[in-house]
Amino acid sequence: MNWNPGSWRTRPVVQVPAYPDPEAQARVETRLKSYPPLVFAGEARNLKRALADVADGRAFLLQGGDCAESFAEFHPDNIRDTFRVILQMAVVLTFAGAMPVVKVGRIAGQFAKPRSGDTEVQDGKELPSYRGDIINAAPFEEAARTPDPERMIQAYAQAASTLNLLRAFASGGYADLHNVHRWNLGFIAGSPSGERYRALADRISETLEFMEACGITPDSAPQLRTTEFYTSHEALLLGYEQAMTRIDSTSGDWYDTSAHMLWIGDRTRALDGAHIEFARGIKNPLAVKCGPTLSNDDLVRLCEALNPDNEAGRLTLISRFGADKVEEHLPRLIRAIKREGRKVVWSCDPMHGNTVKASTGFKTRPFERLLKEVQTFFAVHRAEGTHAGGVHLELTGQNVTECTGGATAITDADLSSRYHTHCDPRLNADQAIELSFQVAEGIRAERFKAQKILAAQ
Ligand code: PEP
Ligand code: CO
Repeated sequence: MNWNPGSWRTRPVVQVPAYPDPEAQARVETRLKSYPPLVFAGEARNLKRALADVADGRAFLLQGGDCAESFAEFHPDNIRDTFRVILQMAVVLTFAGAMPVVKVGRIAGQFAKPRSGDTEVQDGKELPSYRGDIINAAPFEEAARTPDPERMIQAYAQAASTLNLLRAFASGGYADLHNVHRWNLGFIAGSPSGERYRALADRISETLEFMEACGITPDSAPQLRTTEFYTSHEALLLGYEQAMTRIDSTSGDWYDTSAHMLWIGDRTRALDGAHIEFARGIKNPLAVKCGPTLSNDDLVRLCEALNPDNEAGRLTLISRFGADKVEEHLPRLIRAIKREGRKVVWSCDPMHGNTVKASTGFKTRPFERLLKEVQTFFAVHRAEGTHAGGVHLELTGQNVTECTGGATAITDADLSSRYHTHCDPRLNADQAIELSFQVAEGIRAERFKAQKILAAQ
C-alpha cells in the first residue's frame, strides 16, 4: 500500500511544532528509535479483539484520563488516583450496566496538544502557543515556549515509568475485586457518589462471598485478581510516533509501540493530511474524533482509508458535538456507516463540544451539559438500533474544581479553589463516578429495549 513510517512527511501537516534546530530534532528522533518499545504488539491485538466485542454490541469501552499529562504533575499518587477512579467507574458499569468493560487510559503518553492558533498574543507580545509538555512549556516566556526536542526524551521516560506502575497495579493485586471497597478511600468516600458506590461495592462483596462458597475463587478464576488496562493518546507529534513505530517480529506488521491505541483528533483528520497517512499504516486499534464539521462522505472515506478490511475493533469513532448538536449530527453519521456496512465502535466524548467560559473567566464544562450529551448519544443509538459502545472522558482521580455542577454542585465561584489542569477542565473523581452511574442506566435501557424486541418476535 506504499506506506512506510515516514511517508506522512510527503503530506500537508498541521499542528506539529517548528523546531528551531531541525538537526537536534533529528538526533533525538534517532535516539528514540533505539529505545525499547513501550507496549508489545500482541497487547495491541488483544485490545483490538476486546474492541471487536464492543463493535458487536457485547461490551463497553471506558476511555479516560488527563486532557494533557504534565511533567509537573508526574507523581505516583496521581497515577494511582486516575487508575483507581477508572477501576471504580468500570465496576459501576460492569455491575450496574451488566456489561464487560474495556478499560483504556488517556495516560502514559498523552502529552501533545492541538491548539486553535500557532501563536498567542499577550500584552502586545507574540509567542508560540503552548502545545503540551512533550513540545514546550506553558509559562508565557520566550525560552519556555520555544519547542525543545529533548522534551520527547523526558516524555518517553515519564510514559515508561507511568506504564510500569499501571502494569504493576493491574496485575500485582491492587485491582483485585476483593479490594472494591478500598478503591473508595480519600475525599470521595463521604460524597453522594462515594456513598452510592459504597452500596454497590457491598453488593459486589456479598456476591464474591457467595461465589467463593460455590468454589469460584481467585485461584480458579484469576480474572477476579487482575485486570486488563490499556493505554492511549492522540497521535499528534508524528516525529515521536514515527520513532516509536517498529515491525512486530511475530506478524511482520508495523505497530506504533508508544501506546496500545492511538487516536486522530478533530483538527488533524484531513483525508489527504499527514496524520491520516501515518495512522493508516500502523496495526494498532485506532480512533478518530468526529466533530460537527465532519461530512458523511468524509467519514466513509476515513473508514476506507483506516480500515480497508472492515475489521471489527480496528476503528472507533468518537463523536464530540456538544450537547445541543448531537441530534443534528449523530444520526446522519450513524446512517452513513450503516449504509456502507462498516464495523465501528461508537464512543461519546461529551467533553470537547461543551467547553464554556465561566463568569469568573475560567474555561469550564458544566456537568449537566456533559450528561445531556451522553444521554442524547444513548437515545440516538437506541432510536437507530445501534450500540452506544463507549465513553471518552477527561478526568482525574484528584479532588479538583474544574467542571461546574455535579452532586457537590461546584459553582463558577468555586473554580478558582483547585483548578489545576494544564489544558482542558477535567471531571473530578466524584463527578466521574456520578457520570458512570448515569452511563450504566443508558446501557441498561439499551439492553431492556433489545430484550423487548426479542420477546416480541
Ligand atoms: C482531546 O481529546 O484532547 C482533543 C483535543 O479533542 P478533539 O480533537 O476532539 O478536539
Ligand atoms: Co482536551
